[in-house]
Amino acid sequence: MSRIAYVNGQYVPHNEAAVHIEDRGYQFADGVYEVFAVHGGKMIGEKGHLDRLAHSLRELRIDWPVSRRVLGVLTREVARRNRVRDGLVYLQITRGVARRDHPFPENAESALVLTARRAPPLDKEALRQGVSVITLPDIRWKRHDIKSVALLPNILGKQQAREAGAYEAWLVNDDGMVTEGTSSNAWIVTKDGELVTHNTSHAILNGITRLSVLEAADEAGVKFSERPFSVDEALSAKEAFVTSSSSHVKAVTVIDGKPVGNGHIGELTSRMLDLYVDFIEGKGGPQKTDTWN
Ligand code: PDD
Repeated sequence: MSRIAYVNGQYVPHNEAAVHIEDRGYQFADGVYEVFAVHGGKMIGEKGHLDRLAHSLRELRIDWPVSRRVLGVLTREVARRNRVRDGLVYLQITRGVARRDHPFPENAESALVLTARRAPPLDKEALRQGVSVITLPDIRWKRHDIKSVALLPNILGKQQAREAGAYEAWLVNDDGMVTEGTSSNAWIVTKDGELVTHNTSHAILNGITRLSVLEAADEAGVKFSERPFSVDEALSAKEAFVTSSSSHVKAVTVIDGKPVGNGHIGELTSRMLDLYVDFIEGKGGPQKTDTWN
């Protein structure tokens, strides 16, 4: 079966899909994106993704290419046309095509691209295996709450992680605090048993998976704290994990070459994975997505 992409109003074969060379996404990274997980045929956290997209577009003053309602329909349609039961849908919106000039163009129409790809179904055992992370200085700009397509520091960080044999790089700000991963949110369980992830601010992207895990924790009576944590705290943590639409809840068992706890997935991480899967299979994603209003 050939893959289908949606580009500015048309469904086209994926390998023929193209955008204009003067698209500001290509020229300036002047655009935003979203990545939706599809799990068992269901789009996870659609409302949250669209709320976060609305925030990104609003902050950058990029127009919606189609209405929010239509965008939801198109996103599901791209998944359907590509027969994605488990996988990811990518959505990209740029400020559009215009003669190259830094200020916003006057008449450009924002451009929309949607693609979908299959991925293996969520595999709890694989997620429990555990991966390693390294820590790196956070050299990004100061608006991580906006899901911008400008990902150069994230790419460089991820590449450095891969070259070090690690799955992810955790980014550390000038105060020695871990903000998040290059494409995921970072979590620890401190040596006192506290579940911690960075609070929402301009310093992190508020992950849809992060919100699901927090709501699932709340419902199950698991205490958590949304606050920055230091590299030292991470290195002495009992447990650690990352969350994202593509990584779900993935155990971290090594940080900067040192085992986390006993070097195996921790008890609370394992529980949060179970709670997360039950949560998305039940509610389909976070309900409290007013953080962007
Ligand atoms: N990444 N932080 C960053 C910097 C991210 O790029 C992502 C998502 C997250 C987690 O967000 P969510 O739970 O909504 O996926 C946190 C996506 C998956 C990507 O770029 O592929």
